[in-house]
Order: sequence, then C-alpha cells, then structure tokens
Amino acid sequence: MSAPLICPSILASDFARLGEEVQAITAAGADFVHIDVMDGHFVPNITIGPEVVKALRPHTTLPFDVHLMVSPVDSFLEAFRAAGADYMSVHPEAGPHLHRTLKQIRHLGAKAGVVLNPATPVEVLDWVIDDIDLVLIMSVNPGFGGQSFIESQLRKIEAVRRRLDAIAHPAILQVDGGVNAQNARACVDAGATALVAGTAVFKGGASAYADNIKTLKGL
Ligand code: DX5
Ligand code: ZN
Repeated sequence: MSAPLICPSILASDFARLGEEVQAITAAGADFVHIDVMDGHFVPNITIGPEVVKALRPHTTLPFDVHLMVSPVDSFLEAFRAAGADYMSVHPEAGPHLHRTLKQIRHLGAKAGVVLNPATPVEVLDWVIDDIDLVLIMSVNPGFGGQSFIESQLRKIEAVRRRLDAIAHPAILQVDGGVNAQNARACVDAGATALVAGTAVFKGGASAYADNIKTLKGL
C-alpha cells in the first residue's frame, strides 16, 4: 500500500503569515495545499476568496486543492481557476446542477472533485462518475477546523473504494475533517489515497510540520 498524499488545510495555519506557512508545508513534504473556501451561507463560516488564492500562488509549486463550500458555486469557478486552483471540489447540495458544475470545472482546465458530507449517500456519484477526478469524503460536517472525526465515514470510504475499483477508476479518494495520527491508518486501510489535515499538520509550529506530515503518511 503506498503512502497517502498529504493535503494540509491552511485553515489551521497562521493567517497573518499565510505565504510563509505555505512555503513551510511545501518544504516539509506536503503533496497538495488544501484551501477551504467558505461563504457564510452554505456553511456557517467565512474564509478565503480568489484574491487570497492568487496571492498565495507564487509561494509554492504544489497543486492547489480548493474545497468550495459555496452555494451557488458556478459563478466563482472561473475566478478560482484564474487565481491558480488546480483541483476544485464541490458539494452536490450546493447546486444548482452538479453535472454542469463538474463539466465547467474541467472545461476551465482544472480537475473536478465531488464532496460527500457525512449524511450524503454515495449514490450521488453514480451519474457523474465519468466527470470526476477526485472524491472527497467529509469526516466532519463542513464549516470549521478542529472537529472530531466521525467514525461512520470509514464505512463510506470503503463503499466509495469498492465503487471506484469496480470500474478501475483512477480518482483520488480524499478524506477531510478530524484526520490525525490516530485515525490516518484506518482511513488508508479503508481505501483513501489522500488525507486532508489542518490541526494535525499545523500543531507545534513550523519546525514540527515535517514530522507531522511523516506521521500522517505512516512513514
Ligand atoms: C472543514 C474543512 C476541513 C478542515 C480540516 O469544513 O473542510 O478542511 O479545515 O481541519 P481539521 O484537520 O482541523 O479537522
Ligand atoms: Zn476542506
């Protein structure tokens, strides 16, 4: 089993020093930079817009994995892509038309992801399976960092893994929310190939990031 991609969520970083934080996780061995975009409407919090993403772009060559908790989302896709998003992941509930949104993301030249909230059934993937490059399983309800991992989502990771394997689908299977050294292995065993982690990467300050990332990779 190969080591999972580690995608630090910069929501847990020092926002006053965001550029340096992105450089630090890059040097520490991160694979993607996970950027949580919250609109204060789809989720009860407001975070980052395209201007911030654009300002961060020169600080790393790592892919920007932009998690859009925005409803409706379509009118923002172009701006995030122009700002440097490589992956854009959307929630089916954010609407209005998931299939159209995914097509638009790919049309813009980015990779398209679908995000499943803890209560969202895996069947939502069935009719868009050819339009996705990434599936993100939320192991917390979206809106905040630092929440506790919802164990039932391990079964959902397994269910999505089976669906992808059945058709040899190459999508990244990512988990987000409350991922830490205690549950990272279980996520990978269930079939995850990428782990998002905020708190577990950024704890202890920059000198700890490399060890934190290694631990999550299981190295
Ligand atoms: C929650 C976000 C997550 C979160 C992860 O809505 O999508 O990316 O910030 O943070 P931790 O790892 O602290 O749960
Ligand atoms: Zn996220």
